[in-house]
Amino acid sequence: MVLPRFLRLFMTLVGAFALPGVADAQSASATRGMADYHAHCLQCHGAKGKGDGRIMDMQNRRLPDLSRLSLRNKGVFPAGRVMEIVDGTGVIVIHGTSGMPVWGKAMREEAVAQCRASGCNSEAIVRERLRALADYLAFLQEK
Ligand code: HEC
Repeated sequence: MVLPRFLRLFMTLVGAFALPGVADAQSASATRGMADYHAHCLQCHGAKGKGDGRIMDMQNRRLPDLSRLSLRNKGVFPAGRVMEIVDGTGVIVIHGTSGMPVWGKAMREEAVAQCRASGCNSEAIVRERLRALADYLAFLQEK
């Protein structure tokens, strides 16, 4: 995969901190997800996904606690649903606008631009990035 040099360096630095308690295969992915989470999600959801009870908009909606997704799903981390929500392009908004940005659109634009030069599979890159974010959120779950 062709990545800008600064991004590769950043990922190497981030990778130096292995996440404790995460299986090896998932750990590399979760570590990539952590970099993305810190860059794009932390400002709303907080470092541990708890959202710190922040209120998002005029309708007084609270941010959902992302560290309790498993607890709210009978102890099973809903990876597929999380990836769909973060992607956002397939989510049908039933009640007004969601305060959650549609990440899939920006991710696809970036991946398509990246693949234009190298001929990679942009959809595979988007899936991998969504999977990495889900793996990182799985790591944040309360038991
Ligand atoms: C601008 C603030 C903001 C940012 C940035 C943001 N989110 Fe959200 N997120 C929200 C809000 C608000 C909701 C609740 C949406 C709703 O209720 O319709 C939400 C909901 C979610 C949910 C669903 C939780 C549930 O209870 O089902 C997940 C998962 C999630 N966000 C993950 C992420 C990830 C991963 C990122 C970074 C790629 C991110 N969010 C970035 C505001 C944000």
